[in-house]
Amino acid sequence: VAADPFSAPLTEKLVGIVGEAHVLTDPSTTAAYEIDWTRRWRARARCVVRPADTGEVAAVLAACHKVGAPVVPQGGNTGLVGGSVPRGGEVVLSLTRLNNLEPVDEVAAQVTVGAGATLAHVRAHVAAQGLDIGVDLAARDSATIGGMVATNAGGIRVLRHGPMRRQVVGVEAVLADGRVVQRLGGLTKDNTGYDLVGLLAGSEGTLAVVTRIQLALVPVPRVRVAALLAVDGIETALVIFSRLRRLPSLEAAEIMWADGVGLVCRHTGRPPPFAESYPAYLLIECAADDDPTEMLATTLSWTHAVHDTAVATDRQDRERLWAYREHHTEAISAVGVPHKFDVTLPLGALAAFEQEVRSHVAKAAPGAQVILFGHLGDGNLHVNVLGPPPEDETVDDVVLRLVARHGGSISAEHGIGVAKAQWLHLTRSEADRAAMAAIKHALDPRGILNPGVIFPSRGAGGGQQPS
Ligand code: FAD
Ligand code: MLT
Ligand code: ZN
Repeated sequence: VAADPFSAPLTEKLVGIVGEAHVLTDPSTTAAYEIDWTRRWRARARCVVRPADTGEVAAVLAACHKVGAPVVPQGGNTGLVGGSVPRGGEVVLSLTRLNNLEPVDEVAAQVTVGAGATLAHVRAHVAAQGLDIGVDLAARDSATIGGMVATNAGGIRVLRHGPMRRQVVGVEAVLADGRVVQRLGGLTKDNTGYDLVGLLAGSEGTLAVVTRIQLALVPVPRVRVAALLAVDGIETALVIFSRLRRLPSLEAAEIMWADGVGLVCRHTGRPPPFAESYPAYLLIECAADDDPTEMLATTLSWTHAVHDTAVATDRQDRERLWAYREHHTEAISAVGVPHKFDVTLPLGALAAFEQEVRSHVAKAAPGAQVILFGHLGDGNLHVNVLGPPPEDETVDDVVLRLVARHGGSISAEHGIGVAKAQWLHLTRSEADRAAMAAIKHALDPRGILNPGVIFPSRGAGGGQQPS
């Protein structure tokens, strides 16, 4: 029998495990854990519990499992699909105190870190050895490695190094009932049974709580060059990308449009990138030990479709170009609470989708503002719609159905969370969903881990009240 989620005895038990200072119940201290980054999802937690290590995570989960109390794992709370905040009455399990950084294994080019370590901290830790993590994203100062594994985060370097799952060599994780599984051998080859490590990557806190992660590291290239190219639109950008992708040094190919760049300039106070405004911009970055600038210039020399170009090699100049791209998320959120979609399309369908998504949203929500940007090289567009109230799901339905019709995926990198749970059926068959549900049931038979995430909760869209 499930316990009343708001009853006191469990909270007292949790105090016994992690100490009074790390069980938060006062709304003034829990508030920041109860609202997501976009401000679209907000609900009260039963309490926020902040364990210090794997043993405490295990004891917390065992206690919650015993009484059937639902748990929402939370890292940096930068997730964009509502999966890291409560739906109402759950225990929020904050992993940020698990931020230990172990010594870098230079021979294996690996490092093991606590789930709560931020991407920026881990990158700084391994940089001394000339190493880096293959995944990078704008939320680097707050996003945790555990959260990035749980969402199989993508970001700006997937083209070259793949998503988070590809960087993970091993994990330690706590199952719903408090038992600990450990795969931290660091072995390149290990075919002993099911790949639990790969399974946990992208499981969004629904199968286990990740506590330690062993990462494969990549060498830091000697030279980086970024170029911002002004173009007419996505079709031209794709033609240019089809040439650029042959460069082994190509690490990023990002697209943005004039309206988004304008928003970033207004929000951050920075000047426009060029004297004139252009319909769209392609931001590329190459990185190698031998300076890739000349090869990049040669590859671009055949085309007359680039109206203007800005090239940057030193760090400050590159960051200046990247700022136009990386500030999109916060500039959009400064205008209002957006409906965010993170979709992939086959590259051949991208241009048609771009046209159609604008016209379909205009029809479904007249007056709405549609800001697009994204990881062009991965076929991954971020569609942001400002205007419709957070609880109105009309545009969500329109956009996600359009993605499915074009043979795309409703989540490229952010995950399903609660935001897209009710649309999972669009791109995952019944058999597929049944297989996933069977895995979920096997690992979490009482369904305490992140209920409402990935699988819709019964009788509700995402199982959570939009704020
Ligand atoms: P949270 O938001 O705390 O949690 C995310 C999910 O993981 C939740 O379902 C949560 O329950 C689960 N979880 C967290 N920690 C654990 C754990 N230890 N064990 C089990 N489950 C856990 N994402 C991209 O993929 N690419 C981008 O380019 C990108 N850019 C971003 C830019 C900005 C400005 C922002 C705000 C976000 C961006 N994101 C991006 C989204 C976000 O940063 C990623 O999803 C990130 O991986 C979330 O990490 P987190 O620690 O904040 O996790
Ligand atoms: C990005 O690529 O900047 C992100 O995934 C964040 C977003 O979609 O806003
Ligand atoms: Zn992204």
